[in-house]
Amino acid sequence: MANSKSVILKIKRQPTPSSKSYWEEFELAYKPNMNVISCLMEIAANPVTREGKPTTPITYDSNCLEEVCGSCAMLINGRARMACSALIDNLEQPVRLEPFSKFPVIRDLATDRSVIFENLKAVKAWLPVDGTYDLGPGPRMTPEHQEEAYPISRCISCTCCMEACPQFNEETGFVGAATIAQVRLFNIHPTGKVLKRERLAALMGEGGIQECGYAQNCIEVCPKDIPLTKAISEIGGEVMVQAFTDLLRH
Ligand code: SF4
Ligand code: SF4
Ligand code: FES
Repeated sequence: MANSKSVILKIKRQPTPSSKSYWEEFELAYKPNMNVISCLMEIAANPVTREGKPTTPITYDSNCLEEVCGSCAMLINGRARMACSALIDNLEQPVRLEPFSKFPVIRDLATDRSVIFENLKAVKAWLPVDGTYDLGPGPRMTPEHQEEAYPISRCISCTCCMEACPQFNEETGFVGAATIAQVRLFNIHPTGKVLKRERLAALMGEGGIQECGYAQNCIEVCPKDIPLTKAISEIGGEVMVQAFTDLLRH
């Protein structure tokens, strides 16, 4: 820290998806309860580097500012986490901000993480309900199901688990932990389970669950403490049983 009354940020800049990246440093006056997003807002209001050079505001994604929307994920001091809940008081300085490394950079800290939504579509991560007319109350969920489902339902699609996963890369095409956990969520739902076989089938083969090396990096970075490795091992077992029974049937 330059002095106890200032906050130093080192930010990786990249003006376009194909341009070269470079670093810029910023120095802000310290205020209590600052977080990374509030620092980025201050820089936007006065985009001048630490050396006094005028620059452009930093581009980044954010929305809810309360760790619910999942949009502000970035590398903060090398760790995948949410910028809105990253308090400056808890961060080593200079605070290093970088875009996620496993997703295409749009500009500065904003990345295109839409692959998670494509993966969720591929496994049909939804309840197949026709909402055009009143179906009446759905089936009841047991308290045991509720207890298992609730923690998984807190996923905010931030992709931190995918960024941290050594297996999530172009070579494997691995879907990642979040998508597998959502398969678990919808497969244990009394209505959702009608698509169980299709969801498990979508996790077989290239990029499927067998790519997981069980390194457990995902669970360490998940901001919502989702029991990812438990979901992965449960779904892994079910995929194996289904693959085996499919084989016997043919
Ligand atoms: S357990 Fe490891 S390999 Fe599997 S999804 Fe998590 S980080 Fe990736
Ligand atoms: S499982 Fe956790 S880390 Fe992964 S997308 Fe969901 S909330 Fe983010
Ligand atoms: S702004 Fe929504 S999670 Fe950070």
